[in-house]
Amino acid sequence: MVKLAVLVSGGGTNLQALLDAQARGELGSASISLVLSNRKAAYALERARNAGVPTEVLSKVMEPDPVRYDERMLGILQGYGIQMIALAGFLTILGEKTVGAYEDRIINIHPALIPSFCGKGYYGLRVHEEALKRGVKITGATAHLVNLGVDEGPILVQKAVEVQEGDTPEILQRRVMEQAEWKILPQAVKLLADKLERGEAL
Ligand code: GAR
Repeated sequence: MVKLAVLVSGGGTNLQALLDAQARGELGSASISLVLSNRKAAYALERARNAGVPTEVLSKVMEPDPVRYDERMLGILQGYGIQMIALAGFLTILGEKTVGAYEDRIINIHPALIPSFCGKGYYGLRVHEEALKRGVKITGATAHLVNLGVDEGPILVQKAVEVQEGDTPEILQRRVMEQAEWKILPQAVKLLADKLERGEAL
């Protein structure tokens, strides 16, 4: 099995999608072995505990220095023997050491069709506010590999979702989660884990 860490900051509905996929046997070689949050109040941690998955918290308050934050993050991941990472609503940019140690082994879920509405500052509800402001008729979600650029790594899976008349950012966010994010994140995790298990490059 390939040990997966899921990094979270908030509600953790994407984490829940991964936990549910694993329970249904749909996560292939991936085994959720750690949930790490940068916020100790994140509800995602509760979801992890309910599923019996070990949790860790590493916040900017605990470690304000970005270089040491990166080192401590890597130390925690290696301590659990983590082999691949899913960023599931993790709203902190990973440091160079962590990204370097897990090159082509980190997946991020982004709530838009990259290259639209992505990059620095585009996270959470803000992405959907901008999509509605621009008046797009189609949006969606993207699962992609993480490199040192923000939302710039190779795309693994995308899924389109229709914008509907009268959508608010909250309504659109929920539709994008239900119809796209919760489906393609487990798919991308399975894809990468199965490749790693077979010793293949992506
Ligand atoms: C999700 O919509 C995810 O795509 C987004 O944050 C939300 C987290 O929700 N991530 C980003 O915007 C990253 N740029 P969750 O905690 O319920 O999974």
